[in-house]
Amino acid sequence: MQARQETIAVYPGTFDPLTNGHVSIVRRAKDVFDYIVLAIAKDTPKDPLFSLGERVQMAEEVFRDNPQVVVESFSGLLVEYVENRGGNVLLRGLRAISDFDNEFQMALMNRRLKRDIHTMFMMTDYKWLFTSSSIIKETAFLGGDVEGLVPKAVWKRIKQRRNQNKHE
Ligand code: COA
Repeated sequence: MQARQETIAVYPGTFDPLTNGHVSIVRRAKDVFDYIVLAIAKDTPKDPLFSLGERVQMAEEVFRDNPQVVVESFSGLLVEYVENRGGNVLLRGLRAISDFDNEFQMALMNRRLKRDIHTMFMMTDYKWLFTSSSIIKETAFLGGDVEGLVPKAVWKRIKQRRNQNKHE
């Protein structure tokens, strides 16, 4: 029997910031793939609150003790990055019906660009169905408590940024 090739899944996103919903997808994907590359997008129409460096740093802190998870940033076309990374699986999390249209569109466009890169979806754990990076940021910056919805390293960074804003 031939030796099995290592499997790599690229999990792309803006991650502004990383939430427990994202972490849950990564944790479960580790049971399926040998390596998960958390690929943080540099070019995004979202005008992120956290700089690319901060988003990468937070994710690195969260997955520091996880040799199966590699945090990287990327720019340009996602499928080209995945191909250069030596992977052929694009992993995305699906929350509710509202995600479907956009995800379907992206998956089809990516397939049109590179047919041998496959998009795979994992359903988000029900605990995180209602969360998103935007709703967490909005709540936190209006003074709400979002502890437990984001990893500790992210919560720490949000509090720092909130204090900075107060003093400006
Ligand atoms: N739990 C909680 N929230 C989740 C989640 C989960 N499991 N999965 C996704 N989300 C949320 C995110 O927090 C995010 O919330 P926000 O909109 O409030 O920021 C939202 O769902 C979707 O964001 P994300 O999963 O980070 O994807 P994205 O839309 O930010 O990223 C890219 C899209 C980067 C993958 C896409 O723009 C891309 O591929 N860019 C590269 C350029 C390219 O190749 N373009 C052509 C491809 S079609």
